[in-house]
Amino acid sequence: MAAYEYETHDYDCIVIGAGGAGLRATLGMAEQGLRTACITKVFPTRSHTVAAQGGIAASLGNMGPDSWQWHMYDTVKGSDWLGDTDAMEYLAREAPKAVYELDHYGVPFSRTEEGKIYQRPFGGHTTEYGEGPPVQRTCAAADRTGHAILHTLYGQSLKNNAEFYIEYFATDLIMAEDGTCQGVVAWNLEDGTIHVFNAKMTVLATGGYGRAYFSATSAHTCTGDGGGMVARQGLPLQDMEFVQFHPTGIYGAGCLITEGARGEGGYLTNSEGERFMERYAPTYKDLASRDVVSRCMTMEIREGRGVGADGDHIHLNLSHLPPETLALRLPGISESARIFAGVDLNKEPIPVLPTVHYNMGGIPTNYWGEVLNPTADNPDRITPGLMAVGEAGCASVHGANRLGSNSLIDLVVFGRAAAIKAGQVVDPDTSNPTLNQASVDAALERFDGLRHADGATPTAELRLEMQKTMQADAAVFRTDKTLAEGVEKMYDVAGKLADIKVTDRSLIWNSDLMETLELSNLLPNALATVVSAEARKESRGAHAHEDYPDRDDKVWRKHTLARVNGKVELDYRPVHLDPLTTEAEGGIDLKKIAPKARLY
Ligand code: FUM
Repeated sequence: MAAYEYETHDYDCIVIGAGGAGLRATLGMAEQGLRTACITKVFPTRSHTVAAQGGIAASLGNMGPDSWQWHMYDTVKGSDWLGDTDAMEYLAREAPKAVYELDHYGVPFSRTEEGKIYQRPFGGHTTEYGEGPPVQRTCAAADRTGHAILHTLYGQSLKNNAEFYIEYFATDLIMAEDGTCQGVVAWNLEDGTIHVFNAKMTVLATGGYGRAYFSATSAHTCTGDGGGMVARQGLPLQDMEFVQFHPTGIYGAGCLITEGARGEGGYLTNSEGERFMERYAPTYKDLASRDVVSRCMTMEIREGRGVGADGDHIHLNLSHLPPETLALRLPGISESARIFAGVDLNKEPIPVLPTVHYNMGGIPTNYWGEVLNPTADNPDRITPGLMAVGEAGCASVHGANRLGSNSLIDLVVFGRAAAIKAGQVVDPDTSNPTLNQASVDAALERFDGLRHADGATPTAELRLEMQKTMQADAAVFRTDKTLAEGVEKMYDVAGKLADIKVTDRSLIWNSDLMETLELSNLLPNALATVVSAEARKESRGAHAHEDYPDRDDKVWRKHTLARVNGKVELDYRPVHLDPLTTEAEGGIDLKKIAPKARLY
Protein backbone atom coordinates (compact mmCIF):
# COMPACT_ATOMS: atom_id res chain seq x y z
CA MET A 1 0.00 0.00 0.00
CA ALA A 2 1.35 3.41 -0.96
CA ALA A 3 1.76 5.60 2.13
CA TYR A 4 0.68 9.14 1.41
CA GLU A 5 -0.50 11.66 3.96
CA TYR A 6 -3.33 13.77 2.76
CA GLU A 7 -5.57 16.62 3.81
CA THR A 8 -9.33 16.07 3.64
CA HIS A 9 -11.73 18.86 2.59
CA ASP A 10 -15.51 18.87 2.91
CA TYR A 11 -17.80 20.71 0.48
CA ASP A 12 -21.36 20.58 -0.74
CA CYS A 13 -20.17 20.75 -4.33
CA ILE A 14 -16.86 20.45 -6.08
CA VAL A 15 -16.27 21.32 -9.71
CA ILE A 16 -13.27 19.89 -11.54
CA GLY A 17 -12.17 22.32 -14.21
CA ALA A 18 -12.45 26.09 -14.55
CA GLY A 19 -13.42 26.60 -18.19
CA GLY A 20 -16.74 28.17 -19.18
CA ALA A 21 -18.89 25.25 -17.99
CA GLY A 22 -16.94 24.71 -14.77
CA LEU A 23 -17.00 28.38 -13.82
CA ARG A 24 -20.68 28.78 -14.70
CA ALA A 25 -21.52 25.76 -12.52
CA THR A 26 -19.25 27.01 -9.72
CA LEU A 27 -20.83 30.46 -9.82
CA GLY A 28 -24.39 29.11 -9.89
CA MET A 29 -23.74 26.80 -6.94
CA ALA A 30 -21.94 29.46 -4.89
CA GLU A 31 -24.71 32.00 -5.59
CA GLN A 32 -27.17 29.63 -3.90
CA GLY A 33 -25.04 29.46 -0.78
CA LEU A 34 -23.74 25.94 -1.43
CA ARG A 35 -20.18 25.49 -0.14
CA THR A 36 -18.45 25.14 -3.48
CA ALA A 37 -14.86 24.55 -4.53
CA CYS A 38 -13.41 24.57 -8.02
CA ILE A 39 -10.34 22.37 -8.53
CA THR A 40 -8.34 23.21 -11.63
CA LYS A 41 -5.02 22.10 -13.09
CA VAL A 42 -4.46 25.51 -14.72
CA PHE A 43 -5.16 29.04 -13.55
CA PRO A 44 -8.88 29.56 -14.30
CA THR A 45 -8.44 32.24 -16.96
CA ARG A 46 -5.98 30.00 -18.81
CA SER A 47 -8.57 27.24 -19.29
CA HIS A 48 -9.16 26.32 -22.92
CA THR A 49 -12.39 28.36 -23.15
CA VAL A 50 -10.07 31.37 -23.28
CA ALA A 51 -9.28 30.34 -26.86
CA ALA A 52 -12.91 30.41 -28.05
CA GLN A 53 -13.09 33.12 -30.63
CA GLY A 54 -16.19 33.62 -32.76
CA GLY A 55 -19.01 33.70 -30.24
CA ILE A 56 -21.95 32.21 -28.47
CA ALA A 57 -25.24 31.27 -30.16
CA ALA A 58 -28.57 32.57 -28.85
CA SER A 59 -31.68 33.67 -30.72
CA LEU A 60 -31.69 37.25 -29.41
CA GLY A 61 -32.88 38.56 -32.76
CA ASN A 62 -30.77 41.72 -32.46
CA MET A 63 -29.81 41.79 -36.13
CA GLY A 64 -33.03 40.47 -37.70
CA PRO A 65 -35.80 37.97 -37.05
CA ASP A 66 -34.90 34.83 -35.10
CA SER A 67 -36.55 32.34 -32.73
CA TRP A 68 -35.47 29.58 -30.37
CA GLN A 69 -37.42 27.13 -32.55
CA TRP A 70 -35.22 28.03 -35.56
CA HIS A 71 -32.15 27.63 -33.39
CA MET A 72 -33.41 24.25 -32.23
CA TYR A 73 -34.12 23.15 -35.82
CA ASP A 74 -30.56 24.12 -36.88
CA THR A 75 -29.11 22.23 -33.92
CA VAL A 76 -31.15 19.09 -34.70
CA LYS A 77 -30.09 19.21 -38.35
CA GLY A 78 -26.48 20.04 -37.40
CA SER A 79 -26.46 16.98 -35.12
CA ASP A 80 -27.51 14.86 -38.11
CA TRP A 81 -30.47 13.70 -36.04
CA LEU A 82 -28.39 12.11 -33.28
CA GLY A 83 -28.89 14.76 -30.58
CA ASP A 84 -31.42 14.23 -27.78
CA THR A 85 -34.53 16.29 -28.55
CA ASP A 86 -35.22 17.32 -24.93
CA ALA A 87 -31.64 18.53 -24.44
CA MET A 88 -31.60 20.42 -27.75
CA GLU A 89 -34.87 22.15 -26.85
CA TYR A 90 -33.46 23.06 -23.43
CA LEU A 91 -30.34 24.53 -25.06
CA ALA A 92 -32.18 26.64 -27.62
CA ARG A 93 -34.88 27.86 -25.19
CA GLU A 94 -32.51 28.76 -22.36
CA ALA A 95 -29.83 30.31 -24.57
CA PRO A 96 -31.14 33.91 -24.61
CA LYS A 97 -31.61 33.89 -20.83
CA ALA A 98 -28.10 32.53 -20.30
CA VAL A 99 -26.56 35.18 -22.59
CA TYR A 100 -28.41 38.06 -20.94
CA GLU A 101 -27.19 36.74 -17.59
CA LEU A 102 -23.62 36.87 -18.92
CA ASP A 103 -24.26 40.41 -20.11
CA HIS A 104 -25.47 41.40 -16.66
CA TYR A 105 -22.53 39.67 -14.98
CA GLY A 106 -20.35 42.01 -17.05
CA VAL A 107 -19.22 40.20 -20.22
CA PRO A 108 -18.04 43.00 -22.55
CA PHE A 109 -19.94 41.97 -25.69
CA SER A 110 -19.42 43.95 -28.92
CA ARG A 111 -22.35 46.28 -29.56
CA THR A 112 -24.52 47.43 -32.43
CA GLU A 113 -25.07 51.13 -33.13
CA GLU A 114 -28.15 50.92 -30.89
CA GLY A 115 -26.14 49.40 -28.05
CA LYS A 116 -27.51 45.87 -28.43
CA ILE A 117 -25.30 42.78 -28.28
CA TYR A 118 -23.64 42.35 -31.70
CA GLN A 119 -24.40 39.03 -33.46
CA ARG A 120 -22.68 37.56 -36.52
CA PRO A 121 -23.53 34.72 -38.94
CA PHE A 122 -22.01 31.28 -38.27
CA GLY A 123 -22.11 28.01 -40.20
CA GLY A 124 -25.38 26.06 -40.15
CA HIS A 125 -27.38 28.80 -38.39
CA THR A 126 -30.35 29.75 -40.55
CA THR A 127 -33.82 31.30 -40.61
CA GLU A 128 -37.21 29.74 -41.40
CA TYR A 129 -36.22 26.17 -40.51
CA GLY A 130 -33.41 26.11 -43.04
CA GLU A 131 -35.45 27.67 -45.82
CA GLY A 132 -34.42 31.31 -45.27
CA PRO A 133 -31.11 33.17 -45.43
CA PRO A 134 -28.34 32.72 -42.82
CA VAL A 135 -29.18 34.30 -39.48
CA GLN A 136 -26.93 36.53 -37.36
CA ARG A 137 -27.26 34.54 -34.12
CA THR A 138 -23.71 34.35 -32.75
CA CYS A 139 -23.15 36.93 -29.99
CA ALA A 140 -19.56 38.11 -30.03
CA ALA A 141 -16.97 40.03 -28.08
CA ALA A 142 -14.87 40.78 -31.20
CA ASP A 143 -13.09 37.45 -31.80
CA ARG A 144 -12.17 36.95 -28.15
CA THR A 145 -15.55 35.86 -26.80
CA GLY A 146 -14.30 32.96 -24.67
CA HIS A 147 -11.67 35.19 -23.10
CA ALA A 148 -14.31 37.76 -22.15
CA ILE A 149 -16.66 35.13 -20.69
CA LEU A 150 -13.98 33.35 -18.70
CA HIS A 151 -12.66 36.49 -17.02
CA THR A 152 -16.17 37.62 -16.07
CA LEU A 153 -17.22 34.23 -14.66
CA TYR A 154 -14.04 33.93 -12.61
CA GLY A 155 -14.53 37.37 -11.10
CA GLN A 156 -18.17 36.64 -10.29
CA SER A 157 -17.29 33.28 -8.73
CA LEU A 158 -14.79 34.95 -6.40
CA LYS A 159 -17.34 37.62 -5.53
CA ASN A 160 -19.75 34.84 -4.50
CA ASN A 161 -17.16 33.19 -2.24
CA ALA A 162 -16.47 30.11 -4.34
CA GLU A 163 -13.13 28.64 -3.29
CA PHE A 164 -10.45 27.79 -5.81
CA TYR A 165 -7.79 25.08 -5.67
CA ILE A 166 -5.54 26.24 -8.49
CA GLU A 167 -2.93 24.02 -10.10
CA TYR A 168 -4.38 20.97 -8.38
CA PHE A 169 -4.60 17.88 -10.60
CA ALA A 170 -7.62 15.66 -9.87
CA THR A 171 -6.41 12.11 -10.34
CA ASP A 172 -9.40 9.87 -9.62
CA LEU A 173 -13.01 9.81 -8.48
CA ILE A 174 -13.89 8.43 -5.07
CA MET A 175 -16.88 6.10 -5.37
CA ALA A 176 -18.96 4.57 -2.56
CA GLU A 177 -19.70 0.87 -2.75
CA ASP A 178 -23.25 1.60 -3.93
CA GLY A 179 -21.93 3.54 -6.93
CA THR A 180 -22.48 7.04 -5.52
CA CYS A 181 -19.71 9.50 -6.28
CA GLN A 182 -18.20 10.97 -3.10
CA GLY A 183 -15.51 13.30 -4.45
CA VAL A 184 -11.99 13.19 -5.84
CA VAL A 185 -8.35 12.73 -4.93
CA ALA A 186 -6.14 15.58 -6.12
CA TRP A 187 -2.44 16.40 -6.24
CA ASN A 188 -1.23 19.94 -5.57
CA LEU A 189 1.28 20.49 -8.34
CA GLU A 190 2.97 23.39 -6.60
CA ASP A 191 3.86 21.89 -3.22
CA GLY A 192 3.37 18.18 -3.88
CA THR A 193 0.71 17.64 -1.21
CA ILE A 194 -2.19 15.22 -1.71
CA HIS A 195 -5.80 16.28 -1.05
CA VAL A 196 -9.00 14.32 -0.69
CA PHE A 197 -12.20 16.20 -1.47
CA ASN A 198 -15.42 14.88 0.03
CA ALA A 199 -18.49 16.38 -1.64
CA LYS A 200 -22.18 15.70 -2.03
CA MET A 201 -21.93 16.62 -5.70
CA THR A 202 -18.90 16.31 -7.97
CA VAL A 203 -19.05 18.06 -11.33
CA LEU A 204 -16.64 17.05 -14.09
CA ALA A 205 -15.96 20.07 -16.29
CA THR A 206 -12.62 18.87 -17.57
CA GLY A 207 -13.03 19.68 -21.29
CA GLY A 208 -12.36 17.56 -24.35
CA TYR A 209 -9.59 15.21 -25.41
CA GLY A 210 -8.37 16.93 -28.59
CA ARG A 211 -4.82 16.11 -27.67
CA ALA A 212 -5.43 12.45 -28.51
CA TYR A 213 -4.74 13.71 -32.05
CA PHE A 214 -1.50 15.05 -33.54
CA SER A 215 -2.94 18.31 -34.87
CA ALA A 216 -5.64 20.04 -32.85
CA THR A 217 -6.86 23.53 -32.08
CA SER A 218 -7.22 22.38 -28.47
CA ALA A 219 -4.80 23.45 -25.75
CA HIS A 220 -2.20 20.91 -24.65
CA THR A 221 -4.23 20.62 -21.44
CA CYS A 222 -7.23 19.08 -23.28
CA THR A 223 -6.48 15.55 -22.20
CA GLY A 224 -9.92 14.11 -21.43
CA ASP A 225 -9.25 13.86 -17.70
CA GLY A 226 -12.94 13.50 -16.80
CA GLY A 227 -13.46 10.78 -19.41
CA GLY A 228 -10.43 8.91 -18.08
CA MET A 229 -11.67 9.12 -14.48
CA VAL A 230 -15.15 7.93 -15.46
CA ALA A 231 -13.84 5.07 -17.61
CA ARG A 232 -11.71 3.79 -14.72
CA GLN A 233 -14.88 3.47 -12.61
CA GLY A 234 -16.52 1.25 -15.23
CA LEU A 235 -18.87 4.01 -16.40
CA PRO A 236 -19.46 4.42 -20.14
CA LEU A 237 -18.42 7.10 -22.62
CA GLN A 238 -20.96 8.06 -25.26
CA ASP A 239 -20.75 8.76 -29.04
CA MET A 240 -16.98 8.98 -29.00
CA GLU A 241 -16.72 8.28 -32.73
CA PHE A 242 -17.85 11.83 -33.49
CA VAL A 243 -14.78 14.06 -33.56
CA GLN A 244 -15.13 17.49 -35.13
CA PHE A 245 -12.55 18.86 -37.54
CA HIS A 246 -12.73 22.66 -37.71
CA PRO A 247 -12.33 23.74 -41.35
CA THR A 248 -9.87 26.51 -40.64
CA GLY A 249 -6.91 25.55 -38.49
CA ILE A 250 -3.76 27.38 -39.61
CA TYR A 251 -1.80 25.03 -41.89
CA GLY A 252 1.16 23.60 -39.98
CA ALA A 253 0.48 25.34 -36.65
CA GLY A 254 -3.08 24.07 -36.05
CA CYS A 255 -4.20 27.35 -34.39
CA LEU A 256 -7.84 28.25 -34.81
CA ILE A 257 -9.01 30.83 -37.32
CA THR A 258 -12.56 31.49 -36.27
CA GLU A 259 -15.56 30.57 -38.38
CA GLY A 260 -16.51 34.19 -37.61
CA ALA A 261 -14.02 35.03 -40.38
CA ARG A 262 -16.39 33.41 -42.88
CA GLY A 263 -19.33 34.89 -40.95
CA GLU A 264 -17.90 38.35 -41.63
CA GLY A 265 -17.59 37.57 -45.37
CA GLY A 266 -14.42 35.47 -45.76
CA TYR A 267 -14.42 32.59 -48.25
CA LEU A 268 -12.38 29.52 -49.17
CA THR A 269 -10.62 28.96 -52.49
CA ASN A 270 -8.73 26.09 -54.11
CA SER A 271 -5.62 26.13 -56.33
CA GLU A 272 -7.73 27.33 -59.25
CA GLY A 273 -8.91 30.31 -57.24
CA GLU A 274 -12.40 28.80 -57.26
CA ARG A 275 -14.88 29.40 -54.43
CA PHE A 276 -15.55 25.68 -54.38
CA MET A 277 -18.13 25.70 -51.58
CA GLU A 278 -20.61 27.15 -54.09
CA ARG A 279 -20.54 23.77 -55.85
CA TYR A 280 -21.07 21.65 -52.75
CA ALA A 281 -23.47 23.81 -50.71
CA PRO A 282 -25.23 26.14 -53.16
CA THR A 283 -27.43 27.83 -50.56
CA TYR A 284 -25.18 28.41 -47.54
CA LYS A 285 -21.81 28.00 -49.30
CA ASP A 286 -18.93 28.75 -46.88
CA LEU A 287 -21.45 28.91 -44.06
CA ALA A 288 -22.55 25.29 -44.39
CA SER A 289 -22.11 23.13 -41.31
CA ARG A 290 -18.53 22.41 -40.21
CA ASP A 291 -18.40 18.72 -41.00
CA VAL A 292 -19.63 19.49 -44.51
CA VAL A 293 -17.03 22.24 -45.14
CA SER A 294 -14.19 20.11 -43.73
CA ARG A 295 -15.13 17.21 -46.00
CA CYS A 296 -15.36 19.46 -49.06
CA MET A 297 -11.91 20.91 -48.35
CA THR A 298 -10.50 17.41 -47.97
CA MET A 299 -12.08 16.34 -51.27
CA GLU A 300 -10.61 19.37 -53.07
CA ILE A 301 -7.15 18.47 -51.77
CA ARG A 302 -7.56 14.80 -52.66
CA GLU A 303 -8.66 15.68 -56.17
CA GLY A 304 -5.53 17.72 -56.75
CA ARG A 305 -6.89 21.20 -56.17
CA GLY A 306 -5.11 21.95 -52.89
CA VAL A 307 -2.87 25.03 -52.67
CA GLY A 308 0.81 25.37 -51.72
CA ALA A 309 3.92 23.58 -52.98
CA ASP A 310 2.50 20.20 -51.91
CA GLY A 311 -1.09 21.00 -52.84
CA ASP A 312 -2.08 19.99 -49.34
CA HIS A 313 -4.14 22.86 -47.97
CA ILE A 314 -6.73 25.52 -48.84
CA HIS A 315 -6.85 29.33 -48.84
CA LEU A 316 -9.11 31.43 -46.63
CA ASN A 317 -9.57 34.87 -48.17
CA LEU A 318 -10.29 37.98 -46.13
CA SER A 319 -8.32 40.67 -47.95
CA HIS A 320 -11.45 41.93 -49.73
CA LEU A 321 -12.95 43.00 -46.37
CA PRO A 322 -12.48 46.61 -45.25
CA PRO A 323 -9.44 46.95 -42.94
CA GLU A 324 -11.74 48.58 -40.35
CA THR A 325 -13.91 45.42 -40.23
CA LEU A 326 -10.86 43.24 -39.75
CA ALA A 327 -9.53 45.52 -37.01
CA LEU A 328 -12.86 45.82 -35.21
CA ARG A 329 -14.38 42.35 -35.59
CA LEU A 330 -11.37 40.07 -36.10
CA PRO A 331 -8.38 41.56 -34.29
CA GLY A 332 -7.34 38.27 -32.69
CA ILE A 333 -7.08 36.27 -35.89
CA SER A 334 -5.30 39.16 -37.62
CA GLU A 335 -2.61 38.65 -35.01
CA SER A 336 -2.69 34.82 -35.15
CA ALA A 337 -2.39 34.87 -38.96
CA ARG A 338 0.62 37.18 -38.73
CA ILE A 339 2.37 35.22 -35.99
CA PHE A 340 1.57 31.64 -36.99
CA ALA A 341 1.25 31.88 -40.79
CA GLY A 342 3.35 34.97 -41.52
CA VAL A 343 0.39 36.44 -43.36
CA ASP A 344 -1.03 39.98 -43.45
CA LEU A 345 -4.68 39.16 -43.95
CA ASN A 346 -5.35 42.60 -45.41
CA LYS A 347 -3.24 41.48 -48.35
CA GLU A 348 -2.95 37.67 -48.51
CA PRO A 349 -5.06 34.56 -47.94
CA ILE A 350 -4.46 32.40 -44.86
CA PRO A 351 -3.33 28.80 -45.50
CA VAL A 352 -5.79 26.55 -43.66
CA LEU A 353 -6.55 22.87 -43.13
CA PRO A 354 -9.32 20.96 -41.29
CA THR A 355 -7.97 20.45 -37.76
CA VAL A 356 -9.33 18.48 -34.79
CA HIS A 357 -11.37 20.94 -32.75
CA TYR A 358 -14.11 19.38 -30.65
CA ASN A 359 -15.40 16.11 -29.23
CA MET A 360 -19.12 15.66 -29.64
CA GLY A 361 -18.89 12.52 -27.52
CA GLY A 362 -18.14 12.38 -23.83
CA ILE A 363 -19.60 11.37 -20.49
CA PRO A 364 -23.33 10.67 -21.03
CA THR A 365 -25.66 12.96 -19.08
CA ASN A 366 -29.24 14.13 -19.02
CA TYR A 367 -29.92 17.81 -19.65
CA TRP A 368 -29.33 18.61 -15.98
CA GLY A 369 -25.77 17.35 -16.30
CA GLU A 370 -26.39 14.22 -14.19
CA VAL A 371 -24.09 11.41 -15.32
CA LEU A 372 -25.83 8.36 -16.76
CA ASN A 373 -24.93 4.76 -16.14
CA PRO A 374 -27.48 3.06 -18.39
CA THR A 375 -28.77 -0.46 -17.95
CA ALA A 376 -30.87 -2.47 -20.38
CA ASP A 377 -33.95 -1.72 -18.25
CA ASN A 378 -33.13 1.91 -17.62
CA PRO A 379 -31.15 3.73 -20.32
CA ASP A 380 -31.44 6.97 -18.31
CA ARG A 381 -30.27 5.67 -14.92
CA ILE A 382 -28.23 8.35 -13.14
CA THR A 383 -25.04 8.03 -11.10
CA PRO A 384 -25.80 9.77 -7.79
CA GLY A 385 -23.42 12.55 -6.80
CA LEU A 386 -21.82 12.92 -10.22
CA MET A 387 -22.34 15.46 -13.00
CA ALA A 388 -20.49 16.29 -16.22
CA VAL A 389 -20.81 19.53 -18.17
CA GLY A 390 -19.23 21.24 -21.15
CA GLU A 391 -17.10 19.35 -23.66
CA ALA A 392 -16.42 16.61 -21.09
CA GLY A 393 -20.14 15.76 -21.08
CA CYS A 394 -22.52 14.51 -23.74
CA ALA A 395 -26.07 15.75 -23.00
CA SER A 396 -26.43 15.12 -26.04
CA VAL A 397 -27.07 18.40 -27.85
CA HIS A 398 -24.49 18.12 -30.60
CA GLY A 399 -25.17 14.55 -31.67
CA ALA A 400 -22.92 13.69 -34.59
CA ASN A 401 -21.81 17.24 -35.37
CA ARG A 402 -21.77 20.50 -33.41
CA LEU A 403 -22.63 23.85 -34.94
CA GLY A 404 -20.08 26.60 -34.43
CA SER A 405 -20.91 28.83 -31.42
CA ASN A 406 -23.15 26.13 -29.95
CA SER A 407 -20.22 25.18 -27.73
CA LEU A 408 -20.01 28.34 -25.65
CA ILE A 409 -23.77 28.31 -25.23
CA ASP A 410 -23.63 24.62 -24.22
CA LEU A 411 -21.06 25.56 -21.55
CA VAL A 412 -23.14 28.25 -19.93
CA VAL A 413 -26.60 26.68 -20.37
CA PHE A 414 -25.56 23.32 -18.94
CA GLY A 415 -23.17 24.77 -16.33
CA ARG A 416 -26.14 26.79 -15.16
CA ALA A 417 -28.48 23.76 -15.35
CA ALA A 418 -26.09 21.72 -13.20
CA ALA A 419 -26.14 24.48 -10.59
CA ILE A 420 -29.95 24.61 -10.65
CA LYS A 421 -30.14 20.83 -10.20
CA ALA A 422 -27.53 20.87 -7.43
CA GLY A 423 -29.66 23.48 -5.65
CA GLN A 424 -32.52 20.97 -5.72
CA VAL A 425 -30.72 17.78 -4.72
CA VAL A 426 -27.88 18.90 -2.43
CA ASP A 427 -28.83 19.51 1.19
CA PRO A 428 -26.28 21.89 2.72
CA ASP A 429 -27.57 21.14 6.23
CA THR A 430 -26.51 17.49 6.27
CA SER A 431 -22.96 16.32 6.83
CA ASN A 432 -21.13 14.43 4.12
CA PRO A 433 -21.09 10.63 4.39
CA THR A 434 -17.81 8.95 5.38
CA LEU A 435 -15.60 8.30 2.38
CA ASN A 436 -15.04 4.83 1.01
CA GLN A 437 -11.44 4.32 2.13
CA ALA A 438 -10.89 1.49 -0.38
CA SER A 439 -11.65 3.90 -3.22
CA VAL A 440 -9.26 6.55 -1.82
CA ASP A 441 -6.56 3.91 -1.43
CA ALA A 442 -7.05 2.64 -4.97
CA ALA A 443 -6.58 6.20 -6.31
CA LEU A 444 -3.38 6.65 -4.30
CA GLU A 445 -2.13 3.24 -5.40
CA ARG A 446 -2.58 4.15 -9.08
CA PHE A 447 -0.89 7.51 -8.55
CA ASP A 448 2.05 5.87 -6.85
CA GLY A 449 2.30 3.19 -9.52
CA LEU A 450 2.65 5.80 -12.27
CA ARG A 451 5.00 7.93 -10.18
CA HIS A 452 7.39 5.02 -9.84
CA ALA A 453 6.78 3.53 -13.29
CA ASP A 454 10.03 2.05 -14.45
CA GLY A 455 9.33 0.60 -17.87
CA ALA A 456 11.06 1.25 -21.18
CA THR A 457 8.63 3.60 -22.97
CA PRO A 458 8.92 7.35 -22.28
CA THR A 459 5.58 9.13 -21.95
CA ALA A 460 6.27 11.53 -24.84
CA GLU A 461 7.04 8.61 -27.16
CA LEU A 462 3.83 6.74 -26.35
CA ARG A 463 1.75 9.91 -26.60
CA LEU A 464 3.15 10.62 -30.06
CA GLU A 465 2.38 7.08 -31.17
CA MET A 466 -1.23 7.51 -30.03
CA GLN A 467 -1.54 10.92 -31.71
CA LYS A 468 -0.16 9.70 -35.04
CA THR A 469 -2.45 6.65 -34.96
CA MET A 470 -5.55 8.70 -34.28
CA GLN A 471 -4.62 11.30 -36.89
CA ALA A 472 -4.12 8.66 -39.58
CA ASP A 473 -6.83 6.15 -38.77
CA ALA A 474 -9.71 8.12 -37.20
CA ALA A 475 -9.59 11.06 -39.62
CA VAL A 476 -12.08 13.24 -41.56
CA PHE A 477 -12.80 10.28 -43.86
CA ARG A 478 -12.74 6.73 -42.51
CA THR A 479 -12.94 3.28 -44.09
CA ASP A 480 -13.33 -0.22 -42.73
CA LYS A 481 -9.63 -0.71 -43.42
CA THR A 482 -8.32 2.43 -41.69
CA LEU A 483 -10.57 1.87 -38.70
CA ALA A 484 -9.63 -1.79 -38.31
CA GLU A 485 -5.97 -0.78 -38.44
CA GLY A 486 -6.68 2.01 -35.97
CA VAL A 487 -8.32 -0.37 -33.49
CA GLU A 488 -5.41 -2.80 -33.66
CA LYS A 489 -2.79 -0.08 -33.30
CA MET A 490 -4.62 1.70 -30.48
CA TYR A 491 -4.94 -1.52 -28.47
CA ASP A 492 -1.22 -1.96 -28.94
CA VAL A 493 -0.51 1.64 -27.88
CA ALA A 494 -2.83 1.43 -24.84
CA GLY A 495 -1.17 -1.84 -23.80
CA LYS A 496 2.19 -0.08 -23.63
CA LEU A 497 1.02 2.06 -20.70
CA ALA A 498 2.07 -0.92 -18.58
CA ASP A 499 5.63 -0.34 -19.84
CA ILE A 500 5.69 3.43 -19.26
CA LYS A 501 8.84 5.09 -17.98
CA VAL A 502 8.62 8.05 -15.60
CA THR A 503 12.00 9.55 -14.85
CA ASP A 504 11.16 12.18 -12.25
CA ARG A 505 9.94 10.73 -8.93
CA SER A 506 9.47 14.04 -7.11
CA LEU A 507 6.09 15.51 -6.20
CA ILE A 508 6.72 19.21 -6.79
CA TRP A 509 6.05 20.47 -10.32
CA ASN A 510 6.69 17.03 -11.73
CA SER A 511 5.55 17.63 -15.30
CA ASP A 512 6.76 14.16 -16.29
CA LEU A 513 4.28 12.58 -13.86
CA MET A 514 1.51 15.02 -14.76
CA GLU A 515 1.86 14.27 -18.47
CA THR A 516 1.80 10.56 -17.67
CA LEU A 517 -1.42 10.95 -15.68
CA GLU A 518 -2.82 12.92 -18.61
CA LEU A 519 -1.76 10.21 -21.04
CA SER A 520 -3.49 7.63 -18.86
CA ASN A 521 -6.66 9.71 -19.39
CA LEU A 522 -6.18 10.28 -23.10
CA LEU A 523 -5.75 6.58 -23.85
CA PRO A 524 -9.24 5.36 -22.84
CA ASN A 525 -10.77 8.29 -24.72
CA ALA A 526 -8.78 7.48 -27.86
CA LEU A 527 -9.51 3.77 -27.62
CA ALA A 528 -13.25 4.37 -27.16
CA THR A 529 -13.19 6.70 -30.19
CA VAL A 530 -11.66 4.31 -32.65
CA VAL A 531 -13.54 1.21 -31.45
CA SER A 532 -16.89 3.05 -31.51
CA ALA A 533 -16.07 4.40 -35.00
CA GLU A 534 -15.14 0.98 -36.31
CA ALA A 535 -18.49 -0.42 -35.17
CA ARG A 536 -20.70 2.31 -36.70
CA LYS A 537 -21.46 1.16 -40.23
CA GLU A 538 -22.96 4.36 -41.62
CA SER A 539 -22.02 7.99 -42.27
CA ARG A 540 -23.49 10.60 -39.95
CA GLY A 541 -22.21 14.07 -39.10
CA ALA A 542 -18.50 14.00 -38.42
CA HIS A 543 -18.33 10.23 -38.91
CA ALA A 544 -17.78 10.06 -42.69
CA HIS A 545 -17.42 6.37 -43.51
CA GLU A 546 -16.48 5.83 -47.13
CA ASP A 547 -17.67 2.22 -47.17
CA TYR A 548 -21.09 3.28 -45.84
CA PRO A 549 -21.65 6.74 -47.31
CA ASP A 550 -25.30 7.09 -46.24
CA ARG A 551 -26.96 7.77 -42.93
CA ASP A 552 -28.93 4.75 -41.75
CA ASP A 553 -31.59 5.94 -39.29
CA LYS A 554 -33.25 2.56 -39.05
CA VAL A 555 -30.25 0.83 -37.56
CA TRP A 556 -27.94 3.59 -36.34
CA ARG A 557 -30.04 6.41 -34.91
CA LYS A 558 -28.79 5.45 -31.46
CA HIS A 559 -26.07 6.52 -29.05
CA THR A 560 -22.95 4.40 -28.72
CA LEU A 561 -21.84 3.53 -25.19
CA ALA A 562 -18.23 2.44 -24.73
CA ARG A 563 -16.94 0.95 -21.48
CA VAL A 564 -13.16 0.82 -21.47
CA ASN A 565 -11.55 -1.75 -19.27
CA GLY A 566 -8.56 -3.11 -21.11
CA LYS A 567 -10.97 -4.11 -23.87
CA VAL A 568 -13.70 -1.75 -25.06
CA GLU A 569 -17.23 -3.09 -24.61
CA LEU A 570 -19.87 -1.45 -26.77
CA ASP A 571 -23.54 -1.02 -26.09
CA TYR A 572 -26.18 1.39 -27.36
CA ARG A 573 -28.97 3.53 -25.93
CA PRO A 574 -31.91 5.13 -27.69
CA VAL A 575 -31.91 8.76 -28.81
CA HIS A 576 -34.49 10.86 -26.91
CA LEU A 577 -37.11 11.75 -29.49
CA ASP A 578 -39.57 13.61 -27.27
CA PRO A 579 -39.33 17.37 -26.82
CA LEU A 580 -39.88 19.09 -23.45
CA THR A 581 -42.96 20.94 -24.62
CA THR A 582 -45.63 20.13 -27.17
CA GLU A 583 -46.52 22.44 -30.02
CA ALA A 584 -49.74 23.33 -28.16
CA GLU A 585 -47.57 24.49 -25.24
CA GLY A 586 -45.50 26.71 -27.56
CA GLY A 587 -42.92 24.07 -28.45
CA ILE A 588 -41.57 23.19 -31.86
CA ASP A 589 -43.69 21.53 -34.55
CA LEU A 590 -42.24 18.00 -34.53
CA LYS A 591 -42.80 17.66 -38.27
CA LYS A 592 -40.17 20.38 -38.73
CA ILE A 593 -37.48 18.26 -37.10
CA ALA A 594 -38.35 14.91 -38.69
CA PRO A 595 -35.23 13.30 -40.22
CA LYS A 596 -34.49 14.15 -43.85
CA ALA A 597 -31.50 14.55 -46.14
CA ARG A 598 -29.05 17.08 -44.70
CA LEU A 599 -28.40 19.63 -47.41
CA TYR A 600 -27.02 23.15 -47.08
O1 FUM B 1 -14.74 29.19 -35.15
C1 FUM B 1 -14.87 29.48 -33.98
O2 FUM B 1 -14.83 30.64 -33.55
C2 FUM B 1 -15.14 28.39 -33.04
C3 FUM B 1 -16.28 28.38 -32.41
C4 FUM B 1 -16.82 27.14 -31.90
O3 FUM B 1 -16.16 26.10 -31.98
O4 FUM B 1 -17.95 27.14 -31.41
